[in-house]
Amino acid sequence: MEKILITGAGGYIGSNAVYAFLQKGFEVVGIDNFSKGYRQPLELLQQKFGKDQFRFYEYDLLTDLSQLFQQEKHIDATIHYAAFCDVNESMQEPQKYFANNVAGSKNLFSHLIKANSPSVIFSSTCAVYGQAQYVPVDENHPIQPLSPYGASKRIVEEMLEWYGKRELLQYVILRYFNVTGASDDGLIGDSKKPSSLLIPNVIRGALGIASFSLTYSPVDTKDYSPVRDFINVVDLNTVHLKALDYLEKTGKNQIINVGTGTGCSVLQIVKMVEKLTGVTIALEKAMPRRGEIPVMIAKNDKAQHLLHWQPEHSLEDSLRSLITWYQKRPEGWQS
Ligand SMILES: NC(=O)c1ccc[n+]([C@@H]2O[C@H](COP(=O)([O-])OP(=O)(O)OC[C@H]3O[C@@H](n4cnc5c(N)ncnc54)[C@H](O)[C@@H]3O)[C@@H](O)[C@H]2O)c1
Repeated sequence: MEKILITGAGGYIGSNAVYAFLQKGFEVVGIDNFSKGYRQPLELLQQKFGKDQFRFYEYDLLTDLSQLFQQEKHIDATIHYAAFCDVNESMQEPQKYFANNVAGSKNLFSHLIKANSPSVIFSSTCAVYGQAQYVPVDENHPIQPLSPYGASKRIVEEMLEWYGKRELLQYVILRYFNVTGASDDGLIGDSKKPSSLLIPNVIRGALGIASFSLTYSPVDTKDYSPVRDFINVVDLNTVHLKALDYLEKTGKNQIINVGTGTGCSVLQIVKMVEKLTGVTIALEKAMPRRGEIPVMIAKNDKAQHLLHWQPEHSLEDSLRSLITWYQKRPEGWQS
């Protein structure tokens, strides 16, 4: 059984990844400092799969991880999700983002090199591109992050590029677009509190869990609302599985976009949620927000050709799984 380390295991995508990798028969070691993530999904998955297949530990990436690597020997690969990822917060407190995302990754990579565990799949973001100069955005699009969050991710990418060149680590960097949905059975969902993400907030509003009215700033698109590329969290984690397989077979370092290749506007999403829940959502137009990017869509040819991957979930599937999740756990994870 292959053994992988998942950082940020208690977070939204990390906990879904733990579930996805366990379902595929991997032995999984999860770590999180639980600054933003939760123990509850990990306890639930440990009960479901047993301690032999899944163990998790409280570790902060900024601290000494030697004990972890002594305890959990022979890690075949690391899937590195742990980071702070709120763009607005990063504009207010850039230092928090550089300290956590950059220094945390640097410390993790040093331990991986020492432990002779060189394979890394890194969670990056389309925020490294900044304002799209053309769509769909391919991997060669100019890099111009507009936030400390995006910049912190780019610095980690550069770190990996150098470690790759020096043959100390091998990597696949995955630049995600907008991630959404829950596991297909609605067991593992999204508990960001508060969430700055549109879809969880619209659904929570429609289900009467929290008040919500949509404020959006008019932009230059067909219906004047921003268009984004929403990738389902299960599809996203399938890319990680395939990237891991690719890295093990070829040893080639890659940077790959992860998106569906199609966009959906904020207003279209609201309409879909209204259709699925039967609830009408209040709309308010706001003043144009400075720096609001009108359209962001991934060119995903590289993921399709190199990893033989195709998105399998529609946006409606993602909305349905999230609705099931919020119906089961209106307040999300509690601890
Ligand atoms: N959610 C998205 O749409 C999206 C889009 C692009 C990229 N990403 C990337 O995906 C990754 C996961 O995002 P998410 O939405 O699951 O976020 P999240 O906040 O739910 O999960 C991040 C997890 O990392 C943990 N963490 C943070 N700093 C840590 C540290 N120093 N040591 C140990 N654990 C730490 C947090 O406690 C949390 O559980 C991030 O790297 C993010 O940048 C997410």
